[in-house]
Amino acid sequence: MNPVVDVHLDAAAERRLADDVRDGLTRPFKEIPPKHFYDSRGSELFERICELPEYYPTRAERSILAARAGEIVAAAGGPGELVELGSGSALKARMLLDAMDPARRYVPVDVSERMVREAAAELVADYPGLVVHGVVGDFERHLHEVPAPGGAAPRLVALLGGTIGNFPPAGRRRLLREVRAMLRPGDRFLVGTDLVKDPATIEAAYDDPGGVTAAFNRNVLHVINRELGADFDPDAFDHVAFYDREQEWVEMRLRARERCSVWVRDLDLRVEFAAGEELRTEISAKFTPARIRADCAAAGMELERTWTDAETLFGLSLARAV
Ligand code: SAH
Ligand code: AVI
Repeated sequence: MNPVVDVHLDAAAERRLADDVRDGLTRPFKEIPPKHFYDSRGSELFERICELPEYYPTRAERSILAARAGEIVAAAGGPGELVELGSGSALKARMLLDAMDPARRYVPVDVSERMVREAAAELVADYPGLVVHGVVGDFERHLHEVPAPGGAAPRLVALLGGTIGNFPPAGRRRLLREVRAMLRPGDRFLVGTDLVKDPATIEAAYDDPGGVTAAFNRNVLHVINRELGADFDPDAFDHVAFYDREQEWVEMRLRARERCSVWVRDLDLRVEFAAGEELRTEISAKFTPARIRADCAAAGMELERTWTDAETLFGLSLARAV
């Protein structure tokens, strides 16, 4: 069977990047949202991050799925359909699909067209009978484009990898409310959260000695150069990653080594950086069980169960609409 892939990003996506760059680079404290990391190269760099010894979240979440996928699927009421937001390579989806009996439909949703197309092609080849309906889109704007449930069986909506932590608190609750709107009675939401822990472990995960995370961070400047005709010199910016103990999140920033002036041709915009000035490119919030419970409750969902790995590094929580 051939996968269906709907693409909802085109010129509009470029306009959105333009808006984010104009808004983000003309503020006193410069900032670009992390979703712009993920062009083909950014997605590839993220896949390499997942294999780094320092980057524990992927290993920890996979270990929970390896041990508990059957239990999770049973607690989710035996879903026939998996909708995955920010699906990436879909490697974790496979662990859930393997436990579903039978998995009838998989709906990967991601801003990276290449990742959706590759994952969709691989999954239809590996799972005979599985319908794959990919959605290339921004899950902050295009959740209404997710196809209606394929049947009466419960649906499991998953947001894995700790991606929920890449949203600031208000945006996080907004996204959770939109997820809540997708759930019928009996459907479930499965969310992966990186847990609060020793700051040194967290900082090491976001600053590997081989510089893969630094390259991922600088990739956003390559994206802006290519998409908006800017002239950033990515090598003139240092990768910075630090844990904010008060906010309980790690931040990635790019710090201008010297004073520099950047021209963004398509926006007719000149942006000045002072020596040492920083551009925030990502927050990655770390969670306590109370925090994810409160966020879900604020969005009209009740947390039913949380599974963690043996070292309590990462949590997978199941919620239902109330
Ligand atoms: N779920 C995978 C990938 C996590 S990386 C895992 O756990 O390993 C985050 C993924 O979310 C990337 O594939 C990225 O392209 C996607 N993403 C980030 N922001 C997004 C947005 N606003 N809308 C849709 N996809 C997004
Ligand atoms: C996708 N997201 C959950 C990753 C994270 O850990 O916040 C992105 C990432 N940033 C640096 N390394 C990985």
